[in-house]
Amino acid sequence: MKIAGNVACITGGASGIGEACARRLAQQGARVVILDRNLDMAQKIANEIGGEAYVTDVTDEASVHAAITKATTTLGTIRICLNCAGIAPAKRMVGKNGPHPLVDFMQTIQINLTGTFNVMRLAAAQMIASEPLADGNRGVIINTASIAAYEGQIGQVAYAASKGGVVAMTLPAARELAQFAIRVMAIAPGLVDTPLFADLPTTARTQLSAHVPYPNRLAQPDEFAQLVMHIIENDMLNGSVIRLDGALRMP
Ligand SMILES: NC(=O)c1ccc[n+]([C@@H]2O[C@H](COP(=O)([O-])OP(=O)(O)OC[C@H]3O[C@@H](n4cnc5c(N)ncnc54)[C@H](O)[C@@H]3O)[C@@H](O)[C@H]2O)c1
Repeated sequence: MKIAGNVACITGGASGIGEACARRLAQQGARVVILDRNLDMAQKIANEIGGEAYVTDVTDEASVHAAITKATTTLGTIRICLNCAGIAPAKRMVGKNGPHPLVDFMQTIQINLTGTFNVMRLAAAQMIASEPLADGNRGVIINTASIAAYEGQIGQVAYAASKGGVVAMTLPAARELAQFAIRVMAIAPGLVDTPLFADLPTTARTQLSAHVPYPNRLAQPDEFAQLVMHIIENDMLNGSVIRLDGALRMP
């Protein structure tokens, strides 16, 4: 599917991986809509790239519905739906202060998994209602998993469960939407240099990078964005999760 001229909505586009994708999609000629709960940052980036920004909570049905409706009426059918909104809390199942608070577990699932599903279903519905593009495609949905879905570390029970859910949704969603010429893919990044790591001291960052076989460093958010561009343009990529991790297997 072509990027230029198509409408792309990006959740979590106000920071990190989502921001890099918003910038690259705009560079490639897409009309970009950033959906994020941080409106100030989303608006700042949207202004820089000539896009739109709507304050959105991915876990809230009405909020996502309103944002997708506004994007569709303002810019046209969303053809590229990129889910990057997420949180990465670290907490043991039974820590010094007792069992993992259930509310924290539920919040992680709510944002990372239910939020992804919420946006995916509403974006897919408006793609299905549209006419296909000249090349036969109706759209592509790309979700963000994590290598923690496969090798979660201690403290990542909730996060790994949420990302495991994102991985597991990929194939059934792709199978279901195939009849409408809509593809569904996911990317499972390893360690990406985003604001998630900004507060870490240099030594901690070096220790994290030390486990990455090659290239022996954190990934740059734009390397994720480059893969997103390829997935959009390569119609045979469907129903799969691609690792983007420099051969990292978390110890
Ligand atoms: N950075 C990494 O190393 C890494 C590795 C694997 C996977 N990931 C995943 O990549 C995605 C992006 O991470 P990042 O590193 O860019 O993080 P980030 O914190 O820089 O960006 C996350 C964005 O999501 C938004 N967001 C959070 N909850 C939201 C909600 N309920 N509704 C709308 N927006 C919400 C935040 O406002 C923020 O703009 C996440 O899903 C994360 O789990 C990151």
